[in-house]
Amino acid sequence: MTDTTRKPTTSDSGAPVESDEHSLTVGPGGPILLQDSYLIEQMAQFNRERIPERQPHAKGSGAFGKFEVTADVSAYTKAALFQPGTTTDLVIRFSTVAGERGSPDTWRDPRGFAVKFYTSEGNYDMVGNNTPVFFVKDPMKFQHFIRSQKRRADNNLRDHDMQWDFWTLSPESAHQVTWLMGDRGIPRTWRHMNGYTSHTYMWINAEGERFWVKYHFKTDQGVETFTQDEADQMASADTDYHTRDLFEHIRDGDFPSWTLKVQIMPFEDAKDYRFNPFDLTKVWPHGDYPLIEVGRMTLDRNPTDNHAEIEQAAFQPNNFVPGIGPSPDRMLLARLFSYADAHRYRIGANYQQLPVNASVAPVHTYSKDGAMAYRKTSDPVYAPNSKGGPEANPALFGPPPSWYADGEITRAAYVDHAEDDDWGQAGTMVREVLDDAARDRLVDNVVGHLLNGVTEPILQRAFQYWSNIDSKIGKRIEEGVRAKAGEKDPKAGEQANPARSSMQRKA
Ligand code: NDP
Ligand code: HEM
Repeated sequence: MTDTTRKPTTSDSGAPVESDEHSLTVGPGGPILLQDSYLIEQMAQFNRERIPERQPHAKGSGAFGKFEVTADVSAYTKAALFQPGTTTDLVIRFSTVAGERGSPDTWRDPRGFAVKFYTSEGNYDMVGNNTPVFFVKDPMKFQHFIRSQKRRADNNLRDHDMQWDFWTLSPESAHQVTWLMGDRGIPRTWRHMNGYTSHTYMWINAEGERFWVKYHFKTDQGVETFTQDEADQMASADTDYHTRDLFEHIRDGDFPSWTLKVQIMPFEDAKDYRFNPFDLTKVWPHGDYPLIEVGRMTLDRNPTDNHAEIEQAAFQPNNFVPGIGPSPDRMLLARLFSYADAHRYRIGANYQQLPVNASVAPVHTYSKDGAMAYRKTSDPVYAPNSKGGPEANPALFGPPPSWYADGEITRAAYVDHAEDDDWGQAGTMVREVLDDAARDRLVDNVVGHLLNGVTEPILQRAFQYWSNIDSKIGKRIEEGVRAKAGEKDPKAGEQANPARSSMQRKA
């Protein structure tokens, strides 16, 4: 008997269907009929359920929440979402970088920390990571870096040999690799990690004054991490541990929060600051630019349809609002193109019309049509026009984020500032931030990583890389690898390296 209290199943066109269980056949033993369009709709829709996964950051999940301003930073930015007393809704997505959609949450990797603020002036996206720095500083190298972290062409396996090959040929990676190989390379949960813009951005106040800014979302739950062993066990016990942890805590009313703090650099300081302030591989030491409180982000609502609300969420660093803009960081400038391009491919040209991506501020755009256009277009469809269509109002935008740039067109590295070098800040972390126990774990993590398939001469380069960061740590790592590999001759090649066979055993 049909239960009349339940909603009747319909086809996608809304018509009632005859059966959820039986296809239409010629007699009970006969062939299926092409006229069973509900069966065909079910099969065809199923074949189209997946959209391409994100190229990097494929594995992740997220939630909804709000950002409340708790302090007054109006002297630095006029952005509405950062004005005293303002509360703004948001969606956040956490992710790992290298793994595919089904990969374990607890692999050693940076975590994505992407926030979309639905502000009264349009969407503002802060697409950051749980680390304050990055592996490379020129976008030309980003694609190659990501490929080195993903899978080989021949056996489709991830390969530490190619990771260290890339890293040791890219000394600018040293700071981020030190961070990654340390305790914070595996957060215990997404709730227990900080988030950073990493890049420097520009803030502009109501008077048009410009400042450079870096964001630090400090977890109110406290920083907690997994050791390599704990993470390895969790990867098999619960592949989706971080996803589950976030969902269950929000479901149970234990809402995680982060305090947003910023470092503010006066515009003119950038020229002569001891580190190039736009170099993504460097931090601004807190002693130079202390943290200033802005507000609190709280996550209090789970998605009800992960595909519609998280998988199709489209974060893009070029989503700015008046009072916030980019900086000369060339990685950031490249990202301003890359993400919207990825979304047009991954989701479709009209991805910004999906509810999770739609602005709560009214949209009056001349963009129109395209696949799956949902928002209605009205005349006039061109600008300028004398027919009452939208007209740009520069006063609303205010003084544009800008800086002086001049020079011959070139392909060149950044100009170093007084204390810029690839090893310095990584060495500071090893010597001044980590304690003895954390340094021991760093050595263990690196030794374990190198023993998992890294061959000569890359291994030798890795020892040199760590010695450049800190001579003591470099020596300990080399001794650790030699001792565990039972190897005496540092020039021994691939054949002699048991790490390779251990990798092959794993394969
Ligand atoms: P501070 O002593 O003021 O700050 C040290 C920073 O290191 C804190 O932000 C702390 O985060 C963070 N930290 C603590 N343990 C670890 C770890 N295992 N892995 C990564 N980060 C950790 O020093 P400075 O600002 O002068 O910076 C010194 C060094 O600290 C830098 O060279 C850099 O390597 C590292 N660092 C600096 C940051 C910055 O923005 N200035 C941010 C993060 C790291 P928390 O306060 O949340 O515990
Ligand atoms: C995801 C490109 C550097 C953080 C992505 C995606 C692309 C991309 C194409 C997939 C987007 C999608 O399909 O939705 C780049 C390029 C970079 C760069 C070209 C450098 C030139 C960075 C840096 C950070 C970062 C420095 C952090 C500071 C993220 C995050 C995501 C992501 C968090 C996932 C966003 C989400 O959850 O949807 N990146 N990226 N990326 N990237 Fe980058």
